[in-house]
Amino acid sequence: MSYSLVKGFEEKGLPFNTYFCPGRINLIGEHIDYNGGFVLPAAISLGTTLYISKRADSLINIQSQNFDGAFTINPAEEQTYTPGNTWANYVIGCVDFLRQKGIQLGGYNLLFDSNLPIGTGLSSSASVEVLTLFALLSEVGISTFTKEEIAVFAQQVENNFVGMNCGIMDQFAVAMGKAGHAIKLNCETLEYEYIPVDFGNYTLVIMSTNKPRSLIHSAYNQRKAECEEALAIINKEHNYANLCAVPLHVAQAELSGILKQRAAHCITEQNRVLMACNAMQTNNLSIFALQLMGSHQSLRTDYEVTGIELDSLYNAAMQTDGCLAARMMGGGFGGCAIALVDAPKMELFKTTVAAKYNAATGLQASFYDCQLSNGVGKLANQI
Ligand code: GLA
Repeated sequence: MSYSLVKGFEEKGLPFNTYFCPGRINLIGEHIDYNGGFVLPAAISLGTTLYISKRADSLINIQSQNFDGAFTINPAEEQTYTPGNTWANYVIGCVDFLRQKGIQLGGYNLLFDSNLPIGTGLSSSASVEVLTLFALLSEVGISTFTKEEIAVFAQQVENNFVGMNCGIMDQFAVAMGKAGHAIKLNCETLEYEYIPVDFGNYTLVIMSTNKPRSLIHSAYNQRKAECEEALAIINKEHNYANLCAVPLHVAQAELSGILKQRAAHCITEQNRVLMACNAMQTNNLSIFALQLMGSHQSLRTDYEVTGIELDSLYNAAMQTDGCLAARMMGGGFGGCAIALVDAPKMELFKTTVAAKYNAATGLQASFYDCQLSNGVGKLANQI
């Protein structure tokens, strides 16, 4: 194995442990986790591996196979988000979270290695956060926190340290995934149910727009603020726990303009999630497919988070032979879409969609196959 740091662990006779945390897809339920809605994500076989070894001193050294640079911090000292720390902020934020919880960490070398395409909406950051928290807690022998609690901690790191006001979906999915299943998650209560996923003759494919997503944080936070404003207006006369709980006719009567559109997406998306879960449980793929397409249209028209790239990819997929359904996935503004494709037609589907997408945008799409997988865990060391 070519990993110099892992080799370094071995050469110095340092024992090390290996942990893995997946990325995630979301079958349906977009931009409603932070509105108390139901979502249907799943952990995937692509993800992040962490090699961790103890150090003689009490510092933490952070490196990645995917990026240059090494970051060394003292886990006993307060840390702040620093742009120059780039990707390592996700790790440093977790170390600081554990310090604030009163957990004393020793010195560790951390080497990350990801086969997730970074920053494309497959939750590479949630994967790193949940992985860091899970591994460090395991290394110091603290087993009092459940994986659900670790997911919530990771969300707090993302909200409070990184400054992205995300919901709980990504962290929960990568922590709690189960092979062959999606998670029907109630984001208001965190109650969940594993739903077996069987697409019959169809195969799920991830399609990346390969559009850099530089403005995602501010646009995302803006959508969240709009939803909070919509609920506050409605609740002047009512008392709904969250935006997804508001009947559509009430939202239509109380709101206007952009806030009316945003609420319409959230309320109808919640309905589509419930219909999709029911369809999956009764093997009704055509009803499931209709919900996926309805989700994309609502995210395009009412929530306005698609953009030319995701819409072009969606249109290319839907116009190509063998495609049962497609939709954008994740935060939007670039990132990935998913499609359900008749398995024997998959290779032709990919080349056709790539050509159509390139003609529309000038960009090259990428395609990723994946299985639905288990959540975070410790691996047997394999060197
Ligand atoms: C990002 C966020 C999630 C969720 C999705 C949109 O992935 O991290 O919490 O809001 O966008 O559904």
